[in-house]
Order: sequence, then structure tokens, then C-alpha cells
Amino acid sequence: MGRAGNGSSFILMISLLALVAAVAGAGRHLAAADIDASRVGICASAVAIHGYKCQEFDVKTDDGYILNLQRIPQGVAADNSTNRPPVLLQHGVLVDGVTWLLNSPKESLALILADSGFDVWIANVRGTRFSRRHVSLDPNKPEFWNWTWDDLVVHDLPAVIGFVHQQTGQKIHYVGHSMGTLIALATFSEGKQIDKVKSAALLSPIAYLSHMNTALGVVAAKAFVGEITSIFGLAEFNPKGEAVAGLMKFFCAQPGVDCYDLLTAVTGKNCCLNASTVQLFLKNEPQSTSTKNLVHLAQTVRDGVLRKYDYGNPNYNVAHYGESKPPVYNLSNIPHDLPLFLSYGGQDALSDIRDVQTLLDALRSHDVAKLHVQYVKEYGHADFIMGVTAKDVVYNQVVSFFKNYN
Ligand SMILES: *[C@@H]1O[C@H](CO)[C@@H](O)[C@H](O)[C@H]1NC(C)=O
Ligand SMILES: *[C@@H]1O[C@H](CO)[C@@H](O)[C@H](O)[C@H]1NC(C)=O
Ligand SMILES: *[C@@H]1O[C@H](CO)[C@@H](O)[C@H](O)[C@H]1NC(C)=O
Ligand SMILES: *[C@@H]1O[C@H](CO)[C@@H](O)[C@H](O)[C@H]1NC(C)=O
Repeated sequence: MGRAGNGSSFILMISLLALVAAVAGAGRHLAAADIDASRVGICASAVAIHGYKCQEFDVKTDDGYILNLQRIPQGVAADNSTNRPPVLLQHGVLVDGVTWLLNSPKESLALILADSGFDVWIANVRGTRFSRRHVSLDPNKPEFWNWTWDDLVVHDLPAVIGFVHQQTGQKIHYVGHSMGTLIALATFSEGKQIDKVKSAALLSPIAYLSHMNTALGVVAAKAFVGEITSIFGLAEFNPKGEAVAGLMKFFCAQPGVDCYDLLTAVTGKNCCLNASTVQLFLKNEPQSTSTKNLVHLAQTVRDGVLRKYDYGNPNYNVAHYGESKPPVYNLSNIPHDLPLFLSYGGQDALSDIRDVQTLLDALRSHDVAKLHVQYVKEYGHADFIMGVTAKDVVYNQVVSFFKNYN
């Protein structure tokens, strides 16, 4: 499938997310599964039940958001070693940290890392269910949702990285999936946090989104950007809300759209998901984000350039940035000696191989010895976090990569 046309991107992105929502709706009718973190939190529901120690933390950002963070300090086996290297796991858009914990302990990256001798920390960005808190703003009011991934770069990531660094006294290994890779790349490109980060593993790396396409993309491309913005305004985008459900019905009623296998329509064809795990996923996700964040992601799809949020009006941009166009995140400026591991899939509809190539082009001056790239032909977007083969195919490599740069 080809590139989505200009102006269609926002709809494309929204429809994508709406799909996740519809899948979630369907999930409610499925038999109850084990993990539902909603009531008891991530440690109790998804970590302690497997016999691992786990601690919950709250971290405050410099703009007042209160973020939930989990720590799995060691593996399940008795282990008296000290100074385990810290690893921070950063999830993608519309999900939270529990996505790292949905498979069995032997298949889930967070627990594999703990069992491999790492001190594991799991981030949850603003707006996700345990991070819907602020010192003064109310999550039921639009002001709470006035942010994009630029703000995750400026506020959330520094708060969480700073906290882990301060608690452990060590530099951190970073793992990102999807938007979790985008905010890291943007951060590093500005030379930030480099003093606290030892290396980064980027799964389903996203920086350029021009070729993002899903089964729904073609239909979505026919719709109008303006309509959607007027439905949601610049407030919470709640995938479980009624507005999104209505939108879903509309898209699924279009000729040629098969909403039967929605996860596939959203992420691309995942080779290796376990049906029970998908059920747990649907029980826990999707999570809210801000509509403004989706608009920003859609701008990335449309523009083919990685820029800060575009206020859509040169005067507003001048007021915010001192320039009529938003500043570019120049990924060529990522310090060339920062160890990077990139793993991308041949079936990933969000992190298309052509966009990954653009990212690799931007990294062409990176120290060759410090840039490790893995291509997994059969993997879709979700296989990297939930695939039953991911341990053998991807995670073992992540573990050796981190050990190599300890
Ligand atoms: C760790 O525990 C093992 C076995 O219990 C023991 O042999 C070893 O001396 C301990 N190491 C330290 C540093 O305490
Ligand atoms: C949203 O934040 C921007 C600054 O990024 C500010 O100019 C604007 O007034 C805010 N809007 C609302 C509704 O709070
Ligand atoms: C799928 O998940 C179920 C429930 O956790 C588990 O019993 C089964 O072994 C898993 N299958 C594979 C192939 O991992
Ligand atoms: C990014 O930076 C590199 C060198 O640091 C420079 O050659 C290139 O022109 C910059 N790209 C953009 C789009 O500014």
C-alpha cells in the first residue's frame, strides 16, 4: 500500500487508535483473564503474582504531573549481588507499562531482564491510568491534556530518568517501544540525558512515519481532518469513550474494511501472539492520551520530518519557538558514540521498513561499532512486546547488548 496523502494522516492516526479501542470493546465480552491492573496497580497484578519483588513509586515532573513507576529490583532466584545495572522500559502510545508484563515470566522482557541480573524500572507516561494525576490540574478538564510528545521529551523522560539515576547512582540502559523510541531519539538528538544513559535498545523504532499504513489507512485517507478535531477538541482522547466508538462504527462500515481482526488492521500482521496474552492486553489497554499528542504524531506522518508541535499558524509558532516553523529534531545530532540497538519488523504497519531506512540514513554517521541493527522479517508491531518467540529472537540480543555496554 502506498503513502497516505496529505491531510489524511490525522484521520489515519485516529482511526488506528479507534481500532484499538474497538478491539478493547470486544475484549470485554471475553472470559475473565488473570491480570487486571486497574484496581491494584501494576506491581501487585502483574509482577508479585509471579514471585518477584516489586515496588511502586511516584515521580513528579517539573510541570506538575505525577507519574507512576515500578521497580523490579532483582530476579526471582535468590540473588545477593549489589549494584545491578538499571534498565528503564518505556512503553508506546495508548498503552501503559503493563504491556511489558503480559506474557509468562519466561517470555516477558521486564522479567527476563530482572532474571538476567538487571534492576528493572517501568515508566508510565502522563495520561495513562496510574499517571492521571497532577499537583493542581484535573484530568477531567482540557488543561490536563494540553501536551504532546514534545512534553514527554521535556518533562516526563527527564523526571523518570533523573529519578532512576538518583535512586541507583548509576547510568541507565533504556528500552523503548514505538513512541517510547521516538521520545528517546528526540531527547538524545538534543544532547539531553546522555550523561545519565548508558545505552538504548529501540524496538519498532519510530521517528519518521510517512509510510505508516494499515488496512484501515486507505479508507481513513478519504475522511477529513477538520471533522475529527471538532469532535475531540484539544482534550483527552479516550479510546474507550463514546466519540471514538462512533468513529469506529463509521470506519468499519466502509467497503473493503475488515474489522474482524482489528489488532492486525492496527499493527500489521503479528506472527507470534498468544491468544491468552492478547486477551490480557485487551483487558488492560488501551489507555488515554491527549488529542494534541495524536495531532502531533499525525503531523509527523504528514510532514515526513521530525519537528516539534506545529501550532498551525506562523504567528503562534513564532510566539512559542521564535520561528514560523517548529524546530526540527535533527537525529544526526545524536551523539555518535551512544550505543544503540534497533530492532524492526518486516510486517510492522506502524514502523514501516522505508521509514526505518530514513532513520538509519539519519544515523549514518553513527559509530559503526556502536550501532546494532536487527531486522525481523516476520514481526509486526506487537510481536516486539508480546511475541512468544521474542525472547529467542529479540530479547536475548537486548540482554547481551546491555551486558556488552555495562
Ligand atoms: C551470596 O550468596 C552466596 C550463596 O548464598 C554466597 O556463597 C556468597 O558468598 C554471597 N555473596 C555475597 C557477596 O554475600
Ligand atoms: C496550552 O499550552 C500552551 C503552551 O504550550 C499555551 O500557550 C496555551 O494557552 C495552553 N492552552 C490551554 C487551553 O491551556
Ligand atoms: C499462551 O499463554 C498461556 C497462558 O499464559 C500459556 O499457558 C501458554 O503456554 C502460552 N503459549 C505459548 C506458546 O507461549
Ligand atoms: C542535521 O545536522 C547535520 C549535521 O549535524 C547537518 O548536516 C544537517 O543539515 C542537519 N539537518 C537538518 C534537517 O537540519
